[in-house]
Amino acid sequence: MATHLAAMATGKAQPLEVRERQTPKPGPGELLLQVKSLALNPLDYKCRDFGFMVASYPAVLGSDIGGVVLEAGSNVPSTFKPGTRIAAFAPTFFVRCAPDYGAFQQKVIIPARNATPIPDTISFNEAAILPMAVVTTWSGWWTIGLPRNISFSPNAKQGILVWGASSSVGSMVVQSAKLLGFTVYATASAKHHEYVKSLGATRVFDYKDPGVEKSIIEAAKGDGLAVKYGYDAVGALQSCLNILKALKGSETAHLASAPPLMPDGPTAEGVETKFVVASLEEEEQAEQFSFWMNAWLKEKLEKNEIVPSPKIQVVEGGLHGINKGLDILKAGVSCTKLVLEI
Ligand SMILES: NC(=O)c1ccc[n+]([C@@H]2O[C@H](COP(=O)([O-])OP(=O)(O)OC[C@H]3O[C@@H](n4cnc5c(N)ncnc54)[C@H](OP(=O)(O)O)[C@@H]3O)[C@@H](O)[C@H]2O)c1
Repeated sequence: MATHLAAMATGKAQPLEVRERQTPKPGPGELLLQVKSLALNPLDYKCRDFGFMVASYPAVLGSDIGGVVLEAGSNVPSTFKPGTRIAAFAPTFFVRCAPDYGAFQQKVIIPARNATPIPDTISFNEAAILPMAVVTTWSGWWTIGLPRNISFSPNAKQGILVWGASSSVGSMVVQSAKLLGFTVYATASAKHHEYVKSLGATRVFDYKDPGVEKSIIEAAKGDGLAVKYGYDAVGALQSCLNILKALKGSETAHLASAPPLMPDGPTAEGVETKFVVASLEEEEQAEQFSFWMNAWLKEKLEKNEIVPSPKIQVVEGGLHGINKGLDILKAGVSCTKLVLEI
């Protein structure tokens, strides 16, 4: 029986341990992948350190993969024949960290709808930083009821506030919002303003400036912009609410929050805030992933309309380096996505 190595979670708050495990076979609609690169997300250290989403141990964590198709199960589109280079979202959280489906291993099973064939110009490291950011961006648009096919003309002056645009999620939200036709107002540290503009933001504000809310409101009014949508990528709810309330006009504003919302957290009249999550209804979720990963991401990469963002930093050590990488991420990164080469 074939085996491979996995960085396994063996208990809550325990470092991941590299162990040998049996290589599974892909079922209908599934792919077996050779993982070449994986990227780290804040949820990964929450799973490792607090047992978040882990149903039982041993478990395999991790979501973001750049890799190659080794084997396709039945009913898989021919797009994913063996040898195809792909970006893939491992469905770890949807299967409560069941070991076959976590990214932190050499070989992993994923549903084909969670994968995107990548152009030759995209490296495995670049592929690995895309899936979580794309899925979270689109989950956000769905959560706040933004239609997929919306396309504002520049004259429509439809503004959107993206708070935390140098983060992994925020940097993809900026790119996607720009493609939907929004005029993007974003926040980031001053040193990342040019980068965030290069992703499609019209104006970028320094969130560390005590007058940042006032500056955003004044600039939007000066630009004649209606701002009825917002995406809080990092957890600055009160500021987002204050700004949307001031700029939404007479309509209800819609704010997506990537970080969880607290029951006693702030609210604002006329602003509907929702936690970003994909549909939990099986068929709808399958259709969403198929659109986000098989269709949208594929097309945008082929047309060069989005770029992998933010900047990549490789953590050495392959599977053995994941604990160190998660510790670095937990301490805080700036406009950086941590990647391990497997
Ligand atoms: N709901 C979901 O499905 C989902 C999915 C994925 C992630 N998340 C959550 O979304 C959040 C972001 O994840 P991520 O991977 O994108 O994070 P990340 O890339 O690790 O975030 C780091 C960035 O956050 C920025 N930042 C920190 N505090 C800020 C503030 N007060 N205002 C503006 N920017 C600030 C920093 O900006 P500067 O360097 O410019 O200072 C830095 O670039 C996390 O809480 C994560 O758990 C949720």
